[in-house]
Amino acid sequence: MAAAREAPSRAAPSVAAAAGVLLLLSILLTEQVVVCSALSIGVNYGQIANNLPSPGRVSWLLQSIKISKVKLYDADPHVLRAFLGTGVEFVVGIGNEHVPSMVSPAAAHAWLQQHVAPHLRAGARITCITVGNEVFKGNDTALQAALLPAMRSVHQALAALGLQGRVNVTTAHSLDIMGVSYPPSAGAFHPGAVSHLQPYLSFLSQTGAPFLINCYPFFAYKDDPARVPLEYVLFQPNAGVTDPNTGLNYDNMLYAQVDAVYAAIQALGHTDIHVKVSETGWPSRGDPDEIGATPEHAGTYIRNLLQRIEMKQGTPLRPAVPIDVYVFALFNENLKPGPASERNYGLFYPDGTPVYNVGLRGYLPPVESSDNGARRQVFHLLALLLSIASVAFALS
Ligand SMILES: *[C@@H]1O[C@H](CO)[C@@H](O)[C@H](O)[C@H]1NC(C)=O
Ligand SMILES: *[C@@H]1O[C@H](CO)[C@@H](O)[C@H](O)[C@H]1NC(C)=O
Repeated sequence: MAAAREAPSRAAPSVAAAAGVLLLLSILLTEQVVVCSALSIGVNYGQIANNLPSPGRVSWLLQSIKISKVKLYDADPHVLRAFLGTGVEFVVGIGNEHVPSMVSPAAAHAWLQQHVAPHLRAGARITCITVGNEVFKGNDTALQAALLPAMRSVHQALAALGLQGRVNVTTAHSLDIMGVSYPPSAGAFHPGAVSHLQPYLSFLSQTGAPFLINCYPFFAYKDDPARVPLEYVLFQPNAGVTDPNTGLNYDNMLYAQVDAVYAAIQALGHTDIHVKVSETGWPSRGDPDEIGATPEHAGTYIRNLLQRIEMKQGTPLRPAVPIDVYVFALFNENLKPGPASERNYGLFYPDGTPVYNVGLRGYLPPVESSDNGARRQVFHLLALLLSIASVAFALS
């Protein structure tokens, strides 16, 4: 009896709280939903680290900053499962070490059956598979020779699984494949790579898949800071450079690099292949000889790039095609080998705090506690909406 009498008085505050939550939600939704659709920029989710948050927490973080396109270097089932129901679109990868074996149609079929098909059936959005990464950067000629046959096997296996047209098959190139990249209209692939690239481009054209290129204006600046203007690489106001053949003006190096790739593809006879930037970024720290690797420059690069992308800008050669870019990378990755810059490309530290301010104050939920599940979800949702509101505010 006592319990029954007490029940209403205990219920009252929670009803009031629920009403408050609803009011807050409706204010946030009406204020922000229109302004704040998903960002068009994608992000590379690399995991060469031993201190990253769980994929479940990362999915909250990415939703809070409205990122809806993610590129992986593998097909990590934990990540794909954690993002089910979020609508986030994935590029998954086959590592270079697995490329030679994918030449076998049976192996390609088995790989897809294990790593892709179950996730698609469960509702994951996997729209692209990269077969290898920067295969023409090294001198592994066996790997280079295996690339296109492996891509063909993966493409045929997709068809055999009834998945044709749902998933593109491509690879991501380093800018090192360029022999000439300036002026952009004179763009040409490295002569040594052309024999491989000719049939490769035909494959992309026949299958409608994009050409992916990893572009780092940072490298050009670091190598020659006296001659490469900082404003030109950081998308800041500057006179730019004019391509003498086309008369087109370039106010930033990234667009010049992308157009050099379009020109190189066209020189080999193709005008129907879409170029996407599969990686670009700027390190927030580096070794003493890595000039320009600072949080200020990294923040300026990413902030200005985000703005260009949200404006749906195209490059001077393809003004009607909005640039399609995946930022490198989501987190600082503490186990990456090489110079210090390699471990400092992240937008976020592993604890979810931003490395520099670009208006993306994300929300990384605390490590899973024994807390009541439903309450935690409401709490996460509120925190999520608050950070979405701050993203919208920062970008408006
Ligand atoms: C590839 O290049 C590396 C360093 O540039 C060299 O050590 C290695 O021997 C080369 N491998 C082949 C197969 O040429
Ligand atoms: C495949 O790539 C092309 C070119 O970028 C794009 O138009 C198409 O939407 C992609 N397909 C899928 C399934 O995403």
